[in-house]
Amino acid sequence: MMDWTDMHCRYFHRLLGPNARLYTEMVTAAALVHGHRARLLAHNVEEHPVALQVGGAEPRELALAARLGEAAGYDEINLNAGCPSDRVQSGRFGACLMREPALVADCVRAMRDAVRVPVTVKCRIGVDDQDDDGDLFAFASRMLDAGVELLIVHARKAWLQGLSPKQNREVPPLNYARVYRLKREFPELTVVINGGIDGLDAVQAHLQHVDGVMLGRLAYHDPYSLARIDAALAGATPPSREEVMLRMRGYIERQRAGGIRLAAMTRHLLGLYHGEAGGKAFRRILSERAHAMGAGWEAVEAALDEVRLHAGRRAA
Ligand SMILES: Cc1cc2nc3c(=O)[nH]c(=O)nc-3n(C[C@H](O)[C@H](O)[C@H](O)COP(=O)(O)O)c2cc1C
Repeated sequence: MMDWTDMHCRYFHRLLGPNARLYTEMVTAAALVHGHRARLLAHNVEEHPVALQVGGAEPRELALAARLGEAAGYDEINLNAGCPSDRVQSGRFGACLMREPALVADCVRAMRDAVRVPVTVKCRIGVDDQDDDGDLFAFASRMLDAGVELLIVHARKAWLQGLSPKQNREVPPLNYARVYRLKREFPELTVVINGGIDGLDAVQAHLQHVDGVMLGRLAYHDPYSLARIDAALAGATPPSREEVMLRMRGYIERQRAGGIRLAAMTRHLLGLYHGEAGGKAFRRILSERAHAMGAGWEAVEAALDEVRLHAGRRAA
């Protein structure tokens, strides 16, 4: 998720969800080809399986970007055909690509020719006036012909004019049934549903109809939900929040030693105690202290102490 997630976040989410597949935020193919490639592709070995999401609409550039991603070690290259931001539309990619399935198919073919890892696509159920199953099914059919085996579908359409990206994640209504029908129509396509999925019950209900679920905001704002869901699906017990934090310690200390600011990592941890006694104090202390010059693990420990105090009070 652009501006939110990064490699530190994915390291943390991997501890929470050992069986999940992680995706990077969208990186444009142009930035990968012409920009600070090493920084854009940086990730931890612990993140695997991890997919690189790319944005673009130029087959040759996307093929090169895919090759760079594969060479850097990514397990999957995912093409974004679902982002509605103006920045993205002016580059004629993202959600507006849903109007150009032939071009997306060309992009996918070029990417597949360039790499051995799977090339997948993330899309919406439609854009603007694409209001029935036909447009989505036609898009999916083109993707299958181009060799896409997995489609992630954000189950709401995007309005390309008039709505901000944030509104485009909230205003157009969710239509899960259309995604379920997509799976029925194309049983050979692996269909992953996304959008507004708010917990384990919802995940289990969706899995009756499709092959997988993708969690965005829930996993970010309430990261422990990822641990609960991942463990429940695997028939395992989730690690405790404290265990996860203690496993973050070595990572945080290594990154600090390499010059990464504490707040750049702890910003992803703020929601770990969401809904728990002491959760608000944890968030407050961590966000206050992590920004101090030279702050290190002791700031995290102070926030954890607050949670322990609340837990102790509750037990007493
Ligand atoms: C801040 C933010 C950034 C996002 N960036 C991306 C992105 O880079 N690529 C992408 O495919 N989707 C992106 N999304 C959309 C999410 O992946 C997801 O499709 C959407 O939020 C709906 O799922 P959710 O209700 O589980 O969050 C972003 C969402 C948010 C909130």
